Amino acid sequence: MKKILDIITEEVTKAFASCGYDEAYGRVTLSNRPDLCEYQCNGALQAAKEYKKAPFMIADEVADKLKENKMFSSVESVKPGFLNLKAEEHFLADYLNEMREDGERFGCDKTKEQKTVMIDYGGPNVAKPLHVGHLRSAIIGESIKRMGRFMGHNMIGDVHLGDWGLQMGLIITELRQRQPELVYFDENYAGEYPKEPPFTIAQLEEIYPTASSKSKEDEAYKEAAMEATYELQQGRAGYQALLSHILNVSVTDLKKNYENLNVSFDLWKGESDAQPFIPDMVEKMKAEGYAYISEGALVVDVKEEGDTKEIPPCMILKSDGASLYNTTDLATIVWRMRDYHPHEIIYVVDKRQELYFTQVFRCAKKTGLVEPDTKLKFLGFGTMNGKDGKPFKTREGGVMRLETLVSEINQEMYKKIRENNTMEEEEAKETARIVALSAIKYGDLSNQASKDYIFDVERFTSFEGNTGPYILYTIVRIKSILAKYKASGKKAEDTKIRPAGGDSEKSLMLEISKFNSAMENAFEEIAPHKICAYIYDLANAFNRFYHETKILTEEDENVQAGYICLLELTKGILEKCIDILGFSAPERM
Ligand code: ARG
Repeated sequence: MKKILDIITEEVTKAFASCGYDEAYGRVTLSNRPDLCEYQCNGALQAAKEYKKAPFMIADEVADKLKENKMFSSVESVKPGFLNLKAEEHFLADYLNEMREDGERFGCDKTKEQKTVMIDYGGPNVAKPLHVGHLRSAIIGESIKRMGRFMGHNMIGDVHLGDWGLQMGLIITELRQRQPELVYFDENYAGEYPKEPPFTIAQLEEIYPTASSKSKEDEAYKEAAMEATYELQQGRAGYQALLSHILNVSVTDLKKNYENLNVSFDLWKGESDAQPFIPDMVEKMKAEGYAYISEGALVVDVKEEGDTKEIPPCMILKSDGASLYNTTDLATIVWRMRDYHPHEIIYVVDKRQELYFTQVFRCAKKTGLVEPDTKLKFLGFGTMNGKDGKPFKTREGGVMRLETLVSEINQEMYKKIRENNTMEEEEAKETARIVALSAIKYGDLSNQASKDYIFDVERFTSFEGNTGPYILYTIVRIKSILAKYKASGKKAEDTKIRPAGGDSEKSLMLEISKFNSAMENAFEEIAPHKICAYIYDLANAFNRFYHETKILTEEDENVQAGYICLLELTKGILEKCIDILGFSAPERM
């Protein structure tokens, strides 16, 4: 469906043309003085120069033309040369009814140029607990994936596990000290390895930090861990078997955690999956003259003309021949291109890694790992801080684990819901979980991703203001009205939305009509916060309408049925948007 602004622009364009002016001057925007009008066109001010006429004269002529137009209830030419417009109520109602007829898409067309877009997000590290730093990547990445899907793109989400590094050697070393008798450590063992892992997730999560702190104090221990890492990477069978246990146990736990966040990945690939692609890639970079030895290491220059700051070379192999985080990211691009041939890869990673990704992207372009028009995009996010403005911590000052954060917000929500409601314990718990997730996700997504933000538990969990719970509260309110209407035995199925009868109803309708343009724009700019801003405005417009209108006691059944249609559309759009943001609404709260 055409965007409402485009439809209006077309009319104004025609009017400019029929008055003898270039139609390019007819561009209409939303009004920045909503107290005066709904839409505006400033074209006459620009046309004045070309036609050497006073702008208000041009505006007057165009306004005269538009006065007969059925699309507008008011057209005003305002000095020095603005055109102030208001949509005609029937036109607006027709537009909304067409949106309703478009089912689940609400008038937002799928793209005509479908792209394959991979998104690299989540990025948890195996065997290390998820902490709040990983939360942002998961929340933002998931919503971008859903936005893209809604727009009709082929979105492929990859978790890109951190499963290739010293942490594996550390775990193996610690395990070996504790249980040297395990077959995994017997180099002469030739049988099959046990199917059952030699540890639980809880043990694994204790083993890693213990090993990590030991290695910081004990040089020999660290050596052993490095040696184990090396042997693992060289393919030592017992260690490989342990690696798959670590992976299995860890991934099962990660999946559970992500599921609780309503986050899911199409691919569960990790850094280790990139390793087989390294040798050929390195050979090619050398053979084609891109990579050279500098101070013992193999590097590729990635400086470019016009750089305002120093961009150091991208290191491909360390002087001992070991691969690095870079090498893995480059080799990951190799298999992504080979298997999926994406038009674009988006990386949702902490913004402190920006320089690093600049190097990786330039290196990939320069050495031909991707095509010249493949887009590599870094979406860096800021830090989630506590109220003190410092990175979010536990009360004791430690690193906040994701599970802890989620369960604290759940409890907070549970208390609130219990205070407000007479629900059974089970329902209250489930409702608290749903509402808490909206508080966490909306709290995050409503900020521009690149900015740091303060995770303010009290504010985020509030039912009022620009919060997830407020949006859910609005949806629940609509659900409750619709349920009561239905219970009264009435039906609004064959009716339509009627031309607005008052101010607040019209404001609501105007907000609704922006849906397709808001969605398109949010995806183009990869900006979930724009969807949040849209639904916040929509929810506010609805609540104002609700407070000013007697919906259930309206005596004129036709008028009432029209309201019901409007409510259904509002609810449908709000629900679609929160689904794209990655959360849902309860039945009541
Ligand atoms: N595992 C990394 C971390 O915890 C994030 C991975 C980001 N993605 C990437 N392709 N490097 O910091």
